Amino acid sequence: MEFASVLLEWYRENGRDLPWRQTHDPYAIWLSEIILQQTQVKQGWDYWTRFMHRWPTVEALASATEDEVLREWQGLGYYSRARNLHFAAKQIVAMGHFPDTLEDIKKLKGVGDYTAAAIASFAFGIPAAVVDGNVYRVLARHFGIDTPINTTEGKKLFAAMAQELLPTVNCQLSTVNSEYNQAIMDFGAIQCTPASPNCMFCPLVESCVAFRSGTVAELPVKLKT
Ligand code: ADE
Repeated sequence: MEFASVLLEWYRENGRDLPWRQTHDPYAIWLSEIILQQTQVKQGWDYWTRFMHRWPTVEALASATEDEVLREWQGLGYYSRARNLHFAAKQIVAMGHFPDTLEDIKKLKGVGDYTAAAIASFAFGIPAAVVDGNVYRVLARHFGIDTPINTTEGKKLFAAMAQELLPTVNCQLSTVNSEYNQAIMDFGAIQCTPASPNCMFCPLVESCVAFRSGTVAELPVKLKT
């Protein structure tokens, strides 16, 4: 079976059931991605729920004061995320609707390549591959790539690979590219973990270059800065 179909099958059995995966509301998804930029799911979950209760729409968030948003953010750290979130809520309201192309989503303050691809695919089904730490690890190991991930060359290479591997189904109703993005992230977070990957029970072990060559612990490569 192909890489993508194995991951999708794994995800349907093992994927995490997270509240922002039950919706296509771009606001709810954007909020979850900003919270999860530097926060673990376990800690971020409660904050996401509280924000969604207090400000259920982007218009509501845009009408809050920055102080109110910062107070609700208390405990999460990296407060520039909260400031950018509030600023971007006002940007979205000024745009007249939530931006629905990769290019427009990237115009939002605090939204980089990863977050834009996540929102585009989860909310709008746009075939944009996400590349986060989990994706780097899974791809570097499975395909045996030792190009450092924190170089321009590495970033380009992994982004191109991730995009190539994305299963694009020629059907507007398909949720496959969104599911695949969630799948590879969960696979990295649960199965192909940094320190103790579960290679004994891995559905991709037979085609894993790092496993075959005994380099799982060495990949991905990151240059010391
Ligand atoms: N980390 C960042 N985005 C995530 C998501 N959508 N689900 C789980 N963990 C994440």
